[in-house]
Amino acid sequence: MCGIFAYCNFLVEKDRKCICETLCNGLSRLEYRGYDSAGIGIDGDKPGEIVLFKEVGKVAGLRKRIADSTINTSKTFVSQCSIAHTRWATHGVPSVVNCHPLRSEPSNEFIVVHNGIVTNSAELRLVLQKRGYKFESETDTEAVAILMKYIYDTQPSKQANFTDLVKAVLKELEGSFAFVFKSVHYPNEIVTARRGSPLLIGVKTEKKLKVDFVDVEFAGEASEAKPDLLVPPSPAGLLAAPTSSSHIMRSQSRAFMSEDGLPQPIEFFIASDASAIVEHTKRVLYLEDDDIAHIAAGELHIHRLRRNGEGTQTPSQAAATRNIETLEIEMAEIMKGKFDHFMQKEIYEQPESVVNTMRGRVNFDKHQITLGGLRAYLPIIRRGRRIVFIACGTSYHSCIATRAIFEELTEIPVSVELASDFLDRKTPIFRDDVCVFLSQSGETADTILSLRYCLERGALCVGVVNTVGSTISRETHCGVHINAGPEIGVASTKAYTSQYIALLMMAIQLSEDRISLTERRQQIIDGLHALPGQIKQVLEEDKALQQLATSVLANSRSLLILGRGLQYATCLEGALKIKEISYMHSEGILAGELKHGPLALIDENMPVIIIMTRDSLYPKVKSALAQITARKAQPIIICCEGDADFPKDAKTIRVPSTVDCLQGLLNIIPLQLLSYHLAIKNGFDVDFPRNLAKSVTTE
Ligand code: F6R
Repeated sequence: MCGIFAYCNFLVEKDRKCICETLCNGLSRLEYRGYDSAGIGIDGDKPGEIVLFKEVGKVAGLRKRIADSTINTSKTFVSQCSIAHTRWATHGVPSVVNCHPLRSEPSNEFIVVHNGIVTNSAELRLVLQKRGYKFESETDTEAVAILMKYIYDTQPSKQANFTDLVKAVLKELEGSFAFVFKSVHYPNEIVTARRGSPLLIGVKTEKKLKVDFVDVEFAGEASEAKPDLLVPPSPAGLLAAPTSSSHIMRSQSRAFMSEDGLPQPIEFFIASDASAIVEHTKRVLYLEDDDIAHIAAGELHIHRLRRNGEGTQTPSQAAATRNIETLEIEMAEIMKGKFDHFMQKEIYEQPESVVNTMRGRVNFDKHQITLGGLRAYLPIIRRGRRIVFIACGTSYHSCIATRAIFEELTEIPVSVELASDFLDRKTPIFRDDVCVFLSQSGETADTILSLRYCLERGALCVGVVNTVGSTISRETHCGVHINAGPEIGVASTKAYTSQYIALLMMAIQLSEDRISLTERRQQIIDGLHALPGQIKQVLEEDKALQQLATSVLANSRSLLILGRGLQYATCLEGALKIKEISYMHSEGILAGELKHGPLALIDENMPVIIIMTRDSLYPKVKSALAQITARKAQPIIICCEGDADFPKDAKTIRVPSTVDCLQGLLNIIPLQLLSYHLAIKNGFDVDFPRNLAKSVTTE
């Protein structure tokens, strides 16, 4: 959770107003990652002074605090570095004192913004308190700022450079993090590092970049002194001469040199995700775990915390360069446009987003599907003894939704795992397993840890992600981008339908060698062809759904969603949407389980949505309907257009009919819209539901 943003300009004059605006705009884009409090750390009026602004709540509050302050907003800076943060509270309540940047007392000597959790912060805090350092917040992050000051204070030579200082700090930390550090001792410099939480750096220059990568420095770590907090520093000093690094460094700065070799105007933007960068530049590089990036004097240098080859490193981590890539998202894609909320916009984008998922992959005339990212791996997947889907939340539901068709088409057993439980159980995984990781963000901590667990055990790891360049997309052997476009609303909507289709396409491609299934594949591909138009048709029911939400459901305390077979996932996903944004208790129930317990909940006051679109299980769902109406429940029935097989006074939500395994793609839309209208009716902030964050980068 939490969003990090930092901005550096070199030889580009900016006034303080503009710098603050750049920081706050960056935070606004990242607000979906957490919105308990927001803060910035910028240069003060005097040389070597750092000023902090912090406010509880959303970024709008921080903007106001800055505007109301007496700070001289017209002061200009030719070069400067500043940092910013929007918080999702883990350690310590949302409050100004717990708001980032956290600092080393008393004079903001070292400040830091952090996304993640430092799991040994309590031990560090104790050791530092014993050495006389004072803490003011309840956060894990403050220990990091104070540890940095301790290491700085106790180095006899006082010659450590900023990168070495950060390396020394990181070596003491356990847990997951993305950090950006700033210090009065290193003016116009910034160091950023990641382990487990995402970070990327945008680069903006007027001139063309001469080369498209930044070299990574691997050497020098082995012989560096490791600061030991439990014993006083040795006479040689912590951070004794940074050994071999200088002669091994391979002109890291050349990526940003102008033709004439002179320093050039340049700006850097550091962020937790691309949506905060794209308005400034599309040229970005993604940091890998254990990368440390140092920005100073218009140059960017990347160092590794560990030596090359030490420990388990993915190929992308071990690479000697970090390529500068071009972002493919457009500004328009991350703006709300004519909609009131991102969630609403994203629900309405589904006729297009599903097309984008299929674009260039489905040949509707020849009834063929080609997922380029999987082609080379198809024989291995077909030979696998089982397929294990691993995901969390909505992504998990897309796995449940497609498991049956996957098994039907591939005849390979499929199991579906919640990532956290998969890890808790230390699930046995073998070399001939195929593990598929579903994630919109590609940054969900539980899913990433499951991925690394499976990589260590030699399984083939396949990613199905939305965010290009995310950790899961980089660390899997192969995969599929769902291409749904940026999803900003915390409640996932269009990613669900696109993940569903991506998995279906994967199953169809895997089964292409099975002649006996040709007709079934054709039927599904024809269904996919009609899908965007049918989604549009469902969206036209929005007004009626709004009416249903506001007049029938808004005052209920609970809502059950009942279905069977392929629609069970729709029930789970619909109930999750309702819980997370309207804060109403809601449960998705497998109709076959009704009589084994949940039936006790049914009476005339319990609203029940029952999914009764036509498939082979229709007669059984009809009997569930009879069971609940016998207990005086007032069902709301999701059914196919034209069906009239229901009690006269039953409320219905009509959807077009499609192939059984695609029906869930249409049935989920009314539930997304109902949850949206319920939340609006009750006055809740749809895009920022309480206690949640878009990207769950901590376990
Ligand atoms: C619900 C929702 C979450 C995510 C879950 C996994 O609307 O958004 O349940 O689906 O946190 O996130 P990703 O897909 O990014 O791994």
